[in-house]
Amino acid sequence: MTHFIKLTIQFSAQIFVTCLLFFSCQSPDKKEAEAIPDKQWWKEAVVYQLYPRSFKDSDGDGIGDLKGIISKLDYVKSLGVDVIWLNPIYSSPNDDNGYDISDYRNIMKDFGTMQDFDDLLREMHKRKLKLVMDMVLNHSSDEHEWFKQSRSSRTSPYRNYYHWWNAEKGKPTPRYSMFDINHDAWKYDSLTNAYYLHYFSRKQPDLNWENPALRKEVYDMMKFWAAKGIDGFRLDAFQFSAKDTTFPVFPVGYEKQLTKYYAMGPHLHDYLKEMNAEVFSKYPVMTVAEGAGNSFEDAHNLVDAERKELNMAYAFEGVDIAKYGGYSLLHFKEVFSRWDSAFAEKGWLSVFLSNHDQARMVSRFGNDSPEFRELSSKMLTTFIMTMRGTPYYYNGDELGMTNAGFTKIEDYRDMPALNEYKYQKSIGGDIQKFMQRTQFESRDNGRTPFQWDSTKNAGFSTGKPWLKVNPNYKTINQAAQEKDPNSTLNYFRKIVKFRKENPVLVYGKYTLLDKNNPDVYAYTRELNGVKFLVLLNFTGKVVNVNTGLDLAKAELILSNYEGSGEAGKLRGYEARVFRL
Ligand code: NOJ
Repeated sequence: MTHFIKLTIQFSAQIFVTCLLFFSCQSPDKKEAEAIPDKQWWKEAVVYQLYPRSFKDSDGDGIGDLKGIISKLDYVKSLGVDVIWLNPIYSSPNDDNGYDISDYRNIMKDFGTMQDFDDLLREMHKRKLKLVMDMVLNHSSDEHEWFKQSRSSRTSPYRNYYHWWNAEKGKPTPRYSMFDINHDAWKYDSLTNAYYLHYFSRKQPDLNWENPALRKEVYDMMKFWAAKGIDGFRLDAFQFSAKDTTFPVFPVGYEKQLTKYYAMGPHLHDYLKEMNAEVFSKYPVMTVAEGAGNSFEDAHNLVDAERKELNMAYAFEGVDIAKYGGYSLLHFKEVFSRWDSAFAEKGWLSVFLSNHDQARMVSRFGNDSPEFRELSSKMLTTFIMTMRGTPYYYNGDELGMTNAGFTKIEDYRDMPALNEYKYQKSIGGDIQKFMQRTQFESRDNGRTPFQWDSTKNAGFSTGKPWLKVNPNYKTINQAAQEKDPNSTLNYFRKIVKFRKENPVLVYGKYTLLDKNNPDVYAYTRELNGVKFLVLLNFTGKVVNVNTGLDLAKAELILSNYEGSGEAGKLRGYEARVFRL
């Protein structure tokens, strides 16, 4: 028996009884639910982000698809979540896994057909699951009909759907591309002797939002989906959509602060207000845009209700804290507390620690060693589910899926990572260092196929998966966790239920305690006389916690450990929630 399996068995035995302790959670105090200002379904919802390419393959081509998702809807429903955010499923040549759309009103062949989509939506609604679609509106694919027309001639009616710079004016003002192999965001096109702009890859030309004809086409397309009955929109990279089309020169080093120079350009709010009037206001949809600008003011301007733009902000400062080389809990606490307090009275936030653009939550923010993987994963889940804001939980995190950490570049599929590798080679960069970082940070870490069971390819596909399965699927998989009442999966289900039964966790006031404790995150949530205390140990050691509260009468209602433990101390990655 390997050391790993031994440890896993010992560990499972040790915590076997833990769940019995949980959730003596009675139905919420009536008082608690009273007088909640501005209640909204999307504030109370738990969003489950589902990455379609890696979720479940139904036809053996190694790529997840819509029929595969349909076959797993009972599983998603069993989690207790309310909303699925689906990454783009539209027609696409897949330069950036669907974030390069060639037809916004069609389904990518890899994923199925429009009939499959209609079936999916119907089956979701039957189960009272809502669907949020990912709208990529900062750019399209270079294979979109608009772009084909646009590049065909300078006089095409589609020319101004994109940003062109005629070469006789000389070289365009430098713009940095995040994904291009040379990081140059202007690509020369000899057909019309002009450059086009692409903040992402050269196959993702930026759309020109200044053009009312483009905007109208986009709103019509959004209405096409809304009319099908979808329940929300996530706007990809939308903060970059508005540009100063005089293309002023940016100061040296601007590329190190791209959001400062690229986000919240002229008229962005006008476009959002227009989109709201044209689309959002006409359908019962929730709305969220990726990114929240450069300041709290920017974030509020996007989401404060009276502005009639979006419902909630999705800000990156929190998720960006964990870097290669670690992070400090003091920093983590400071960031989440600052955002909470900025939104305490007005506006609404998303709470998340991972998504398809990040490495795995437990590997970045927790500890994916056999000893602590389950505990730290449950602790992080406790954090997400007990904060104010709408939780966005990434598929696979409920199993405590870990980074695959591929060591060979051939195993990676993520276009920006592959381009960066080539770029580093071209400039004689330190490839070893690049690979070490990629192993930890790559988006492919979060995109490996969902681990359903211990059969071939983790039960994801009968064919060769588009991206390698993490070899730990033999022990970390859904089927195994179903059987274990103490699994991270069952913990997730319980805590989702717990949140939904206790509005204090959704709406309650947040107060940070033991602020300078470098190991423990402690806070209370309070609403209409109901008060919860959350204690989270972010280390593998036994640590002290001093909240200054008298816990003699506190009732332990949730924990990831067996027994109540010693007062004033927390065991490695322990999470405890008390009712005070
Ligand atoms: C943000 C998306 O989340 C990411 O996956 C994508 O690569 C870029 N936007 C470009 O669309």
